[in-house]
Amino acid sequence: MKDYRKDFPLLSYYHEKGRGIAYLDNAATTQKPFSVLRAEEEFYTHKNANPHRGAYDLSMAATKVLEDVREKTKRWLNVPKDGEIIFTKNASESLNLVAYSYGMHAISAGDEILLAVSEHHSNLVPWQMVAKAKGAVLSYLYLDEEGRITAEEVKKKITDKTKLVAIAQVSNVTGCISPLEDIIGLAHKRDAVVVVDGTQGAPHLTVDLEKMDADFYAFSGHKMLGPMGIGILYGKKQHLESMPPFLYGGDMIEYVKEQSATFAPLPQKFEAGTQNMGSIAGFGAAIAYLEGVGMKKLQALEKELTGYLLEKLGNIPYVSIVGSSGPENRIGVVPFVIEGVHPHDVVTILNKDSVAIRAGNHCAQPLHAYLKVPATCRASVYLYNTRDDIDRLADSLKGVRRWLGYGA
Ligand SMILES: Cc1ncc(COP(=O)(O)O)c(C=O)c1O
Repeated sequence: MKDYRKDFPLLSYYHEKGRGIAYLDNAATTQKPFSVLRAEEEFYTHKNANPHRGAYDLSMAATKVLEDVREKTKRWLNVPKDGEIIFTKNASESLNLVAYSYGMHAISAGDEILLAVSEHHSNLVPWQMVAKAKGAVLSYLYLDEEGRITAEEVKKKITDKTKLVAIAQVSNVTGCISPLEDIIGLAHKRDAVVVVDGTQGAPHLTVDLEKMDADFYAFSGHKMLGPMGIGILYGKKQHLESMPPFLYGGDMIEYVKEQSATFAPLPQKFEAGTQNMGSIAGFGAAIAYLEGVGMKKLQALEKELTGYLLEKLGNIPYVSIVGSSGPENRIGVVPFVIEGVHPHDVVTILNKDSVAIRAGNHCAQPLHAYLKVPATCRASVYLYNTRDDIDRLADSLKGVRRWLGYGA
Protein backbone atom coordinates (compact mmCIF):
# COMPACT_ATOMS: atom_id res chain seq x y z
CA MET A 1 0.00 0.00 0.00
CA LYS A 2 1.19 3.53 -0.81
CA ASP A 3 2.78 5.41 2.07
CA TYR A 4 0.82 8.66 1.87
CA ARG A 5 2.94 10.20 4.63
CA LYS A 6 5.81 10.73 2.18
CA ASP A 7 3.65 13.22 0.28
CA PHE A 8 3.27 15.46 3.34
CA PRO A 9 6.37 17.56 4.05
CA LEU A 10 5.29 18.60 7.54
CA LEU A 11 5.12 14.97 8.66
CA SER A 12 8.60 14.25 7.24
CA TYR A 13 9.98 17.45 8.78
CA TYR A 14 8.94 16.44 12.30
CA HIS A 15 9.96 12.84 11.71
CA GLU A 16 13.49 13.92 10.80
CA LYS A 17 13.65 15.98 14.01
CA GLY A 18 12.84 12.99 16.20
CA ARG A 19 9.96 10.56 16.52
CA GLY A 20 7.60 12.76 14.60
CA ILE A 21 4.21 14.20 15.40
CA ALA A 22 1.16 11.97 15.82
CA TYR A 23 -1.18 14.47 14.16
CA LEU A 24 -4.73 13.52 15.10
CA ASP A 25 -6.47 16.89 14.77
CA ASN A 26 -7.64 16.52 11.19
CA ALA A 27 -11.16 17.73 11.93
CA ALA A 28 -9.58 21.13 12.68
CA THR A 29 -7.39 21.21 9.59
CA THR A 30 -5.47 18.69 7.50
CA GLN A 31 -1.82 18.70 6.42
CA LYS A 32 -0.99 19.64 2.83
CA PRO A 33 0.72 17.40 0.25
CA PHE A 34 3.63 18.63 -1.92
CA SER A 35 1.33 18.80 -4.95
CA VAL A 36 -0.90 21.38 -3.24
CA LEU A 37 2.08 23.49 -2.14
CA ARG A 38 3.57 23.27 -5.65
CA ALA A 39 0.30 24.34 -7.27
CA GLU A 40 0.27 27.48 -5.09
CA GLU A 41 3.89 28.19 -5.95
CA GLU A 42 3.26 27.52 -9.64
CA PHE A 43 0.47 30.08 -9.65
CA TYR A 44 2.60 32.81 -8.10
CA THR A 45 5.76 32.01 -10.06
CA HIS A 46 4.19 31.52 -13.51
CA LYS A 47 0.62 32.77 -13.64
CA ASN A 48 0.25 35.59 -11.16
CA ALA A 49 -2.03 38.36 -12.43
CA ASN A 50 -5.48 39.51 -11.46
CA PRO A 51 -8.06 37.18 -13.05
CA HIS A 52 -10.99 38.49 -15.10
CA ARG A 53 -9.40 41.96 -15.32
CA GLY A 54 -6.77 41.90 -18.01
CA ALA A 55 -6.78 41.20 -21.75
CA TYR A 56 -3.13 40.12 -21.71
CA ASP A 57 -1.86 36.51 -21.65
CA LEU A 58 -0.91 36.42 -17.97
CA SER A 59 -4.28 37.65 -16.74
CA MET A 60 -6.01 35.20 -19.04
CA ALA A 61 -3.82 32.41 -17.59
CA ALA A 62 -4.95 33.42 -14.08
CA THR A 63 -8.60 33.45 -15.22
CA LYS A 64 -8.10 29.98 -16.68
CA VAL A 65 -6.79 28.67 -13.33
CA LEU A 66 -9.84 30.11 -11.55
CA GLU A 67 -12.37 28.73 -13.99
CA ASP A 68 -10.62 25.36 -14.41
CA VAL A 69 -10.73 24.81 -10.64
CA ARG A 70 -14.40 25.79 -10.61
CA GLU A 71 -15.09 23.18 -13.32
CA LYS A 72 -12.99 20.58 -11.48
CA THR A 73 -14.98 21.28 -8.28
CA LYS A 74 -18.23 20.85 -10.19
CA ARG A 75 -17.12 17.51 -11.62
CA TRP A 76 -15.85 16.31 -8.24
CA LEU A 77 -19.15 17.10 -6.49
CA ASN A 78 -21.32 16.14 -9.47
CA VAL A 79 -22.93 19.57 -9.51
CA PRO A 80 -26.15 19.50 -11.54
CA LYS A 81 -26.63 21.85 -14.49
CA ASP A 82 -28.94 24.07 -12.50
CA GLY A 83 -26.30 24.60 -9.78
CA GLU A 84 -23.31 26.91 -9.41
CA ILE A 85 -20.05 26.99 -7.41
CA ILE A 86 -18.97 30.18 -5.64
CA PHE A 87 -15.56 30.67 -4.07
CA THR A 88 -15.43 32.24 -0.60
CA LYS A 89 -12.73 32.31 2.05
CA ASN A 90 -14.02 29.43 4.21
CA ALA A 91 -17.13 27.46 5.18
CA SER A 92 -18.10 30.12 7.72
CA GLU A 93 -18.21 32.76 4.99
CA SER A 94 -20.18 30.43 2.69
CA LEU A 95 -22.79 29.89 5.41
CA ASN A 96 -22.93 33.61 6.25
CA LEU A 97 -23.46 34.33 2.56
CA VAL A 98 -26.53 32.08 2.58
CA ALA A 99 -27.80 33.55 5.87
CA TYR A 100 -27.44 37.17 4.75
CA SER A 101 -28.36 36.92 1.09
CA TYR A 102 -30.98 34.17 1.27
CA GLY A 103 -32.15 33.98 4.89
CA MET A 104 -32.58 37.69 5.47
CA HIS A 105 -34.88 37.92 2.43
CA ALA A 106 -36.72 34.59 2.39
CA ILE A 107 -37.46 34.22 6.12
CA SER A 108 -40.36 36.11 7.70
CA ALA A 109 -41.86 36.57 11.16
CA GLY A 110 -43.26 33.33 12.55
CA ASP A 111 -41.30 31.07 10.17
CA GLU A 112 -39.29 28.22 11.69
CA ILE A 113 -35.64 27.48 11.02
CA LEU A 114 -34.80 23.89 11.91
CA LEU A 115 -31.27 22.91 12.86
CA ALA A 116 -29.50 20.25 14.89
CA VAL A 117 -28.29 20.97 18.40
CA SER A 118 -24.95 19.55 17.24
CA GLU A 119 -24.35 22.25 14.61
CA HIS A 120 -20.98 23.99 14.52
CA HIS A 121 -21.39 27.65 15.54
CA SER A 122 -20.78 28.59 11.88
CA ASN A 123 -24.06 26.91 10.94
CA LEU A 124 -25.91 28.08 14.03
CA VAL A 125 -25.05 31.67 14.96
CA PRO A 126 -25.84 33.05 11.45
CA TRP A 127 -29.33 31.50 11.78
CA GLN A 128 -29.74 32.99 15.25
CA MET A 129 -28.94 36.32 13.65
CA VAL A 130 -31.56 35.78 10.89
CA ALA A 131 -34.19 34.57 13.38
CA LYS A 132 -33.63 37.59 15.61
CA ALA A 133 -33.75 40.09 12.75
CA LYS A 134 -36.84 38.57 11.11
CA GLY A 135 -38.84 37.40 14.13
CA ALA A 136 -38.46 33.75 13.13
CA VAL A 137 -38.20 30.80 15.53
CA LEU A 138 -35.21 28.47 15.85
CA SER A 139 -36.25 24.88 16.39
CA TYR A 140 -33.77 22.10 17.25
CA LEU A 141 -33.28 18.46 16.37
CA TYR A 142 -31.98 16.60 19.42
CA LEU A 143 -29.84 13.48 19.37
CA ASP A 144 -30.56 9.91 20.46
CA GLU A 145 -28.43 8.14 23.14
CA GLU A 146 -25.84 7.31 20.48
CA GLY A 147 -25.46 10.98 19.57
CA ARG A 148 -27.30 10.53 16.26
CA ILE A 149 -30.03 12.49 14.48
CA THR A 150 -32.87 10.13 13.60
CA ALA A 151 -35.43 10.41 10.81
CA GLU A 152 -38.14 10.11 13.54
CA GLU A 153 -36.80 13.23 15.23
CA VAL A 154 -36.87 15.09 11.91
CA LYS A 155 -40.47 13.97 11.26
CA LYS A 156 -41.43 15.19 14.72
CA LYS A 157 -39.80 18.61 14.38
CA ILE A 158 -40.51 19.59 10.80
CA THR A 159 -43.77 21.53 10.44
CA ASP A 160 -45.65 23.57 7.86
CA LYS A 161 -43.91 26.62 9.29
CA THR A 162 -40.42 25.22 8.62
CA LYS A 163 -38.92 27.40 5.89
CA LEU A 164 -35.28 26.41 6.17
CA VAL A 165 -33.31 23.45 7.52
CA ALA A 166 -29.61 23.99 8.35
CA ILE A 167 -27.81 20.73 8.94
CA ALA A 168 -24.27 19.36 9.02
CA GLN A 169 -23.63 16.37 6.78
CA VAL A 170 -21.30 15.06 9.51
CA SER A 171 -20.93 16.40 13.06
CA ASN A 172 -17.49 17.83 13.81
CA VAL A 173 -17.83 16.55 17.41
CA THR A 174 -19.50 13.14 17.26
CA GLY A 175 -18.34 12.21 13.75
CA CYS A 176 -21.86 10.87 13.06
CA ILE A 177 -23.27 11.11 9.54
CA SER A 178 -26.70 12.78 9.33
CA PRO A 179 -29.61 11.03 7.54
CA LEU A 180 -29.56 13.65 4.77
CA GLU A 181 -31.77 11.72 2.38
CA ASP A 182 -34.60 11.67 4.95
CA ILE A 183 -34.02 15.26 6.02
CA ILE A 184 -33.92 16.70 2.50
CA GLY A 185 -36.88 14.58 1.35
CA LEU A 186 -39.03 15.64 4.32
CA ALA A 187 -37.99 19.30 4.01
CA HIS A 188 -38.70 19.50 0.30
CA LYS A 189 -42.15 17.97 0.83
CA ARG A 190 -42.88 21.10 2.89
CA ASP A 191 -41.13 23.40 0.40
CA ALA A 192 -38.41 24.15 2.96
CA VAL A 193 -34.94 24.98 1.71
CA VAL A 194 -32.03 22.84 2.97
CA VAL A 195 -28.58 24.26 3.73
CA VAL A 196 -26.03 21.48 4.21
CA ASP A 197 -22.80 22.20 6.06
CA GLY A 198 -20.51 19.77 4.29
CA THR A 199 -17.33 20.86 6.07
CA GLN A 200 -16.75 17.45 7.70
CA GLY A 201 -18.43 15.53 4.88
CA ALA A 202 -16.67 16.66 1.70
CA PRO A 203 -13.19 15.56 2.88
CA HIS A 204 -14.33 12.02 3.73
CA LEU A 205 -17.42 11.02 1.74
CA THR A 206 -18.29 10.78 -1.94
CA VAL A 207 -20.49 13.81 -2.53
CA ASP A 208 -23.03 13.72 -5.34
CA LEU A 209 -24.90 17.01 -5.25
CA GLU A 210 -27.27 16.05 -8.04
CA LYS A 211 -28.42 13.05 -6.04
CA MET A 212 -28.34 14.83 -2.67
CA ASP A 213 -30.60 17.63 -3.92
CA ALA A 214 -29.53 20.10 -1.20
CA ASP A 215 -30.34 23.73 -1.98
CA PHE A 216 -26.97 24.92 -0.65
CA TYR A 217 -23.81 23.00 0.29
CA ALA A 218 -20.87 24.70 2.03
CA PHE A 219 -17.36 23.59 3.01
CA SER A 220 -13.70 24.65 3.42
CA GLY A 221 -10.71 23.57 1.35
CA HIS A 222 -8.31 23.38 4.30
CA LYS A 223 -9.98 20.31 5.87
CA MET A 224 -9.47 18.27 2.69
CA LEU A 225 -5.73 18.80 2.05
CA GLY A 226 -6.21 22.23 0.43
CA PRO A 227 -4.77 25.54 1.59
CA MET A 228 -6.40 27.78 4.16
CA GLY A 229 -8.35 30.73 2.77
CA ILE A 230 -10.57 28.94 0.27
CA GLY A 231 -14.20 28.11 0.92
CA ILE A 232 -16.78 26.67 -1.42
CA LEU A 233 -20.48 27.32 -1.72
CA TYR A 234 -22.75 25.34 -3.98
CA GLY A 235 -26.22 26.71 -4.58
CA LYS A 236 -29.12 25.98 -6.88
CA LYS A 237 -29.24 28.73 -9.50
CA GLN A 238 -32.94 29.31 -8.86
CA HIS A 239 -31.99 30.60 -5.38
CA LEU A 240 -28.68 32.25 -6.25
CA GLU A 241 -30.21 34.23 -9.09
CA SER A 242 -32.97 35.64 -6.92
CA MET A 243 -30.62 36.56 -4.04
CA PRO A 244 -28.99 39.98 -3.65
CA PRO A 245 -25.16 40.04 -3.52
CA PHE A 246 -23.46 39.42 -0.18
CA LEU A 247 -20.41 41.67 -0.63
CA TYR A 248 -20.22 44.64 -2.99
CA GLY A 249 -17.36 46.14 -5.00
CA GLY A 250 -15.00 45.22 -7.81
CA ASP A 251 -15.56 42.28 -10.14
CA MET A 252 -19.17 41.65 -9.09
CA ILE A 253 -20.82 44.49 -11.02
CA GLU A 254 -22.13 44.99 -14.52
CA TYR A 255 -22.70 48.77 -14.73
CA VAL A 256 -22.20 51.38 -12.04
CA LYS A 257 -23.68 54.87 -12.20
CA GLU A 258 -23.38 57.53 -9.53
CA GLN A 259 -26.59 56.49 -7.81
CA SER A 260 -27.07 52.84 -8.76
CA ALA A 261 -25.44 49.65 -9.97
CA THR A 262 -26.38 46.42 -11.71
CA PHE A 263 -24.64 43.19 -10.92
CA ALA A 264 -22.67 40.58 -12.84
CA PRO A 265 -24.26 37.21 -13.59
CA LEU A 266 -23.41 34.14 -11.52
CA PRO A 267 -20.95 33.24 -10.15
CA GLN A 268 -19.21 36.67 -10.21
CA LYS A 269 -22.18 38.32 -8.49
CA PHE A 270 -21.04 36.60 -5.28
CA GLU A 271 -17.27 36.95 -5.77
CA ALA A 272 -16.50 40.58 -4.94
CA GLY A 273 -12.85 41.66 -5.12
CA THR A 274 -9.69 39.75 -5.95
CA GLN A 275 -9.93 36.06 -5.21
CA ASN A 276 -7.41 34.03 -3.17
CA MET A 277 -5.84 32.63 -6.33
CA GLY A 278 -2.95 30.74 -4.71
CA SER A 279 -5.42 28.87 -2.51
CA ILE A 280 -7.77 28.23 -5.42
CA ALA A 281 -4.90 26.70 -7.40
CA GLY A 282 -3.95 24.62 -4.34
CA PHE A 283 -7.54 23.53 -3.85
CA GLY A 284 -7.62 22.22 -7.43
CA ALA A 285 -4.51 20.16 -6.63
CA ALA A 286 -6.16 18.86 -3.42
CA ILE A 287 -9.11 17.56 -5.45
CA ALA A 288 -6.65 15.94 -7.88
CA TYR A 289 -4.82 14.30 -4.95
CA LEU A 290 -8.04 12.88 -3.50
CA GLU A 291 -9.12 11.69 -6.95
CA GLY A 292 -5.75 9.96 -7.26
CA VAL A 293 -6.30 8.16 -3.95
CA GLY A 294 -9.94 7.39 -4.77
CA MET A 295 -12.71 8.19 -2.28
CA LYS A 296 -13.64 4.50 -1.87
CA LYS A 297 -10.07 3.65 -0.92
CA LEU A 298 -9.89 6.63 1.42
CA GLN A 299 -13.09 5.52 3.14
CA ALA A 300 -11.83 1.96 3.56
CA LEU A 301 -8.59 3.27 5.04
CA GLU A 302 -10.38 5.59 7.43
CA LYS A 303 -12.83 2.91 8.46
CA GLU A 304 -9.98 0.64 9.46
CA LEU A 305 -8.25 3.44 11.40
CA THR A 306 -11.51 4.52 13.06
CA GLY A 307 -12.25 0.95 14.20
CA TYR A 308 -8.76 0.73 15.68
CA LEU A 309 -9.09 4.13 17.38
CA LEU A 310 -12.44 3.20 18.94
CA GLU A 311 -11.05 -0.13 20.10
CA LYS A 312 -7.93 1.40 21.67
CA LEU A 313 -9.86 4.19 23.40
CA GLY A 314 -12.51 1.73 24.58
CA ASN A 315 -9.83 -0.39 26.28
CA ILE A 316 -8.33 2.37 28.42
CA PRO A 317 -9.68 2.60 31.97
CA TYR A 318 -11.18 6.01 32.84
CA VAL A 319 -11.64 6.93 29.16
CA SER A 320 -15.26 7.29 28.03
CA ILE A 321 -16.17 7.81 24.40
CA VAL A 322 -18.89 10.44 24.07
CA GLY A 323 -21.76 9.47 21.75
CA SER A 324 -21.51 6.49 19.46
CA SER A 325 -18.68 4.05 20.13
CA GLY A 326 -19.48 1.96 17.06
CA PRO A 327 -17.68 2.26 13.72
CA GLU A 328 -20.84 2.37 11.57
CA ASN A 329 -22.22 5.43 9.80
CA ARG A 330 -19.55 7.76 11.06
CA ILE A 331 -16.19 9.21 10.14
CA GLY A 332 -12.97 9.02 12.14
CA VAL A 333 -13.77 11.87 14.53
CA VAL A 334 -14.03 10.55 18.09
CA PRO A 335 -14.82 12.64 21.19
CA PHE A 336 -13.97 11.34 24.65
CA VAL A 337 -13.37 12.38 28.24
CA ILE A 338 -11.08 11.08 30.99
CA GLU A 339 -12.68 10.77 34.38
CA GLY A 340 -11.41 13.45 36.75
CA VAL A 341 -9.24 15.27 34.21
CA HIS A 342 -10.15 18.40 32.29
CA PRO A 343 -9.74 17.94 28.50
CA HIS A 344 -7.34 20.91 28.35
CA ASP A 345 -5.04 19.12 30.83
CA VAL A 346 -5.30 15.94 28.75
CA VAL A 347 -4.11 17.61 25.55
CA THR A 348 -1.36 19.51 27.36
CA ILE A 349 0.00 16.25 28.74
CA LEU A 350 -0.32 14.53 25.33
CA ASN A 351 1.62 17.38 23.77
CA LYS A 352 4.69 16.31 25.78
CA ASP A 353 4.64 13.12 23.71
CA SER A 354 4.04 15.04 20.44
CA VAL A 355 0.52 13.72 20.17
CA ALA A 356 -1.76 16.43 18.77
CA ILE A 357 -5.49 16.24 19.46
CA ARG A 358 -8.03 18.95 20.24
CA ALA A 359 -9.83 19.83 23.49
CA GLY A 360 -12.68 22.21 24.22
CA ASN A 361 -16.20 22.65 22.91
CA HIS A 362 -15.12 22.45 19.24
CA CYS A 363 -17.32 25.45 18.34
CA ALA A 364 -20.37 23.46 19.42
CA GLN A 365 -21.39 24.88 22.79
CA PRO A 366 -25.13 24.03 22.50
CA LEU A 367 -24.17 20.38 21.87
CA HIS A 368 -21.92 20.26 24.93
CA ALA A 369 -24.68 21.87 27.05
CA TYR A 370 -27.13 19.25 25.70
CA LEU A 371 -24.72 16.40 26.49
CA LYS A 372 -24.00 17.97 29.90
CA VAL A 373 -20.23 17.86 29.42
CA PRO A 374 -18.37 21.18 29.58
CA ALA A 375 -15.70 20.05 27.12
CA THR A 376 -14.38 16.98 25.32
CA CYS A 377 -11.12 15.71 23.86
CA ARG A 378 -11.37 14.95 20.14
CA ALA A 379 -9.12 12.69 18.06
CA SER A 380 -9.62 12.71 14.31
CA VAL A 381 -7.87 10.73 11.57
CA TYR A 382 -7.11 11.22 7.90
CA LEU A 383 -5.47 9.17 5.18
CA TYR A 384 -1.85 9.70 6.31
CA ASN A 385 -2.47 8.47 9.87
CA THR A 386 -1.30 5.04 10.93
CA ARG A 387 -1.95 2.55 13.71
CA ASP A 388 1.32 3.80 15.22
CA ASP A 389 -0.22 7.29 15.66
CA ILE A 390 -3.17 5.73 17.47
CA ASP A 391 -0.90 3.55 19.63
CA ARG A 392 1.01 6.67 20.61
CA LEU A 393 -2.24 8.40 21.55
CA ALA A 394 -3.35 5.41 23.62
CA ASP A 395 0.05 5.06 25.37
CA SER A 396 0.11 8.75 26.19
CA LEU A 397 -3.51 8.67 27.48
CA LYS A 398 -2.66 5.78 29.79
CA GLY A 399 -0.17 8.04 31.57
CA VAL A 400 -2.44 11.08 31.95
CA ARG A 401 -4.03 10.25 35.30
CA ARG A 402 -0.72 9.03 36.74
CA TRP A 403 0.95 12.26 35.62
CA LEU A 404 -1.66 14.21 37.61
CA GLY A 405 -1.04 12.16 40.74
CA TYR A 406 -3.92 9.65 40.54
CA GLY A 407 -3.09 6.06 41.49
CA ALA A 408 -3.90 4.87 37.94
C1 LIG B 1 -18.95 21.20 10.74
C2 LIG B 1 -18.16 22.47 10.56
N1 LIG B 1 -18.76 23.54 10.01
C3 LIG B 1 -18.12 24.69 9.82
C4 LIG B 1 -16.81 24.85 10.20
C5 LIG B 1 -16.13 26.14 9.97
O1 LIG B 1 -15.07 25.96 9.08
P1 LIG B 1 -14.08 27.18 8.78
O2 LIG B 1 -13.43 27.51 10.10
O3 LIG B 1 -13.11 26.64 7.80
O4 LIG B 1 -14.91 28.30 8.29
C6 LIG B 1 -16.13 23.77 10.81
C7 LIG B 1 -14.76 23.93 11.30
O5 LIG B 1 -14.31 23.23 12.19
C8 LIG B 1 -16.83 22.55 10.98
O6 LIG B 1 -16.23 21.49 11.51
